[in-house]
Amino acid sequence: MASDKPSAPVGPVPFKDVGSEMDTALPEQPPEKLSHLADMVSSLPSKMEVNLGVRVYCYQGFWLPDNWVVAAIAMQRGFKARPDDVIVASLPKCGTTWLNALAFATMARHTYPPAAASHPLRRLNPHQCLPFLEGLFATGQEAMLDTLPSPRLMNTHMPLTMLPNTVLTTAAATEGGGCSGCRVIYICREPKDIVVSFWHYFQQSVPSVTLAETFEAFCDGAKIFGPFWDHILNYWRASTACPDNVLFLRYEELLRDPTSNVRKLAQFVGLPFSDAEEEVGVVDTIVKLCSLDNLRSLETNRTGYVDKRMNLRRETLFRKGIAGDWINHITPEMARRLDDIVAQKLGTMGLIFK
Ligand code: A3P
Repeated sequence: MASDKPSAPVGPVPFKDVGSEMDTALPEQPPEKLSHLADMVSSLPSKMEVNLGVRVYCYQGFWLPDNWVVAAIAMQRGFKARPDDVIVASLPKCGTTWLNALAFATMARHTYPPAAASHPLRRLNPHQCLPFLEGLFATGQEAMLDTLPSPRLMNTHMPLTMLPNTVLTTAAATEGGGCSGCRVIYICREPKDIVVSFWHYFQQSVPSVTLAETFEAFCDGAKIFGPFWDHILNYWRASTACPDNVLFLRYEELLRDPTSNVRKLAQFVGLPFSDAEEEVGVVDTIVKLCSLDNLRSLETNRTGYVDKRMNLRRETLFRKGIAGDWINHITPEMARRLDDIVAQKLGTMGLIFK
């Protein structure tokens, strides 16, 4: 018998449409219920994060501002992953915005056809379409996650080992267990290009910081969410041990061949493109919708802030968008030094950057 009941909404839906205005701002205060953690955090080893102008604390081997340590603990305790969740993970400046857009456009394509003039990515910044996990936990707004229809698509910069157990069953597999848990799509990038992109971006917050200072801190490992090598390595290991749970993408490969990577992404999340979709060019439409030129031209991305307090403007999420811009900023000596670190820390795992 036919039912008149409206069908349940299918995710992902643009987070901005169901949540409040969400940004990736560092909160000034932890929520009241987590304030008891402040003493523990202040006892951790700390350093100044020059580009952010805040202290970062070494928690479980990674450097985070105090309120994000609190957020990590809250996430570890409180985040319940659903089996069909998809989490986009990255270090900052590795192509997060682009991957957020591609993942959203791909997963939501049956509800929001990518060619439609009303597509959410034509009126919202990609970061407004996905909930930013640590941002929600840092501000005590995590209950919003429960209201989202499945499958949920979320975003994090947290290292894999700092994600909650319900996600971590995947990482446990690297220790010889089975592969389970939700799906994670990770994007990494050539480290020299990360430093350059990072420096340009945070010039808006603390303009006096030089590229040389940024580079030193990056090599030292003590940048936000660093050390970069452990961040990358953890996701890389999990992706080789559990390819059905962790998809490891590279910014440079995405630039070289976006369509193949979008097909790979769709397959990974269990939504491969049908022959009919291929015939009418849906993959190309998604790639065009999410291209740097298109995103950059949209009003929503030319105005507004990622983090107003830190003066991080949305338009600066879309800078050059190329591979190898480091050559214009980094000396050959600096390049050799960072290449050596990468070879030493990551090369033995078969992870090289070309
Ligand atoms: P550059 O600063 O080298 O230009 P994130 O989103 O993680 O902050 O990464 C930002 C980097 O991704 C910037 O690199 C930015 O230009 C690039 N980027 C943003 N959107 C992009 C897109 N649609 N296609 C390719 N690159 C993009």
